[in-house]
Amino acid sequence: MHPYLSQNVFFFLMVTVLIFIHEPSSSSADEYSDCAADFECGNIRVGYPFWGSDRPEHCGHPKLELNCTTGDVTVITISSDTYRVLDVNENDHTLTAVRTDYWDNVCPQTETDLRNITLDTSIVNYTTQGYQSLTLFYTCTSQLALPSSNQFNCSSGSGSESTTNYFLAGELTLPRNAPYALLLTRSGTCQASVVLRISETQVETLESQASEENLKTAINDGFELEWDANNTLCDECQSDSSRRCGYSLTSGGFACFSNTQSQVDRQILP
Ligand SMILES: *[C@@H]1O[C@H](CO)[C@@H](O)[C@H](O)[C@H]1NC(C)=O
Ligand SMILES: *[C@@H]1O[C@H](CO)[C@@H](O)[C@H](O)[C@H]1NC(C)=O
Ligand SMILES: *[C@@H]1O[C@H](CO)[C@@H](O)[C@H](O)[C@H]1NC(C)=O
Ligand SMILES: *[C@@H]1O[C@H](CO)[C@@H](O)[C@H](O)[C@H]1NC(C)=O
Ligand SMILES: *[C@@H]1O[C@H](CO)[C@@H](O)[C@H](O)[C@H]1NC(C)=O
Repeated sequence: MHPYLSQNVFFFLMVTVLIFIHEPSSSSADEYSDCAADFECGNIRVGYPFWGSDRPEHCGHPKLELNCTTGDVTVITISSDTYRVLDVNENDHTLTAVRTDYWDNVCPQTETDLRNITLDTSIVNYTTQGYQSLTLFYTCTSQLALPSSNQFNCSSGSGSESTTNYFLAGELTLPRNAPYALLLTRSGTCQASVVLRISETQVETLESQASEENLKTAINDGFELEWDANNTLCDECQSDSSRRCGYSLTSGGFACFSNTQSQVDRQILP
């Protein structure tokens, strides 16, 4: 072998060995640069505590995986309830969402759609301001004490038969006045009720102009969830721009990744 060439080969091998020794397979710097990519889908663009698509799992909380589906629709599944994500506000730590089974639809396709969501309060909560309940009463066998404009029909599973259903916007439990009391006793004649959440603005619209059309609009407008995935720790971490929030998949907890690339470079390069 040519002495000059072998010297080059030796040098190359030495550098390779040094890189191999000095750089762990998954350094904090790698994790830092991995997490540069936001999750992006349609109008949604968000970083920690979310992950999914091009944003690796260790860049967000395990329970907050986003999925970009057909038509650039962002969906998230939290404790087995799937939501369409309409908007994300990183400063307020809130997202606006709609149950996917109720998107543009007030008639559940199957019996199992007739259910309330269960929030995983270790990670999300309803925001306390600006939203109220919307109760949907399904398969009522007698008239409820509600205007006929609060009624909507759904075709039942088989054939052309349809069911009679009602909606009531606003909190059911608060006023103990006559119409509500009557409604509550009579609602026993409905097979099931489902409680959704809509904005106070939409409650007002439904109170003044009840219709199936406005009901769908109110639901499609979504409701807010606030998240807490170590928000305070993350704010502290990212107060330094050479650090990024993430999650340790090995130890299972919040992680703050540093951009230590420059130090690593100095260790390796002669
Ligand atoms: C994301 O959505 C696609 C298409 O709907 C589905 O096949 C996939 O399982 C989903 N992934 C997750 C993690 O929900
Ligand atoms: C949903 O929640 C309401 C109020 O808590 C309850 O009355 C109703 O039975 C629940 N519906 C289902 C399908 O579990
Ligand atoms: C949700 O609210 C409950 C009760 O106030 C609280 O214990 C929990 O920590 C909250 N969760 C989040 C994610 O903020
Ligand atoms: C529901 O069906 C009944 C009987 O078929 C009909 O009289 C009523 O107008 C329908 N209501 C709506 C909101 O479509
Ligand atoms: C916040 O971080 C601590 C420590 O890493 C962890 O034990 C806890 O589960 C985290 N909370 C959430 C909501 O992820």
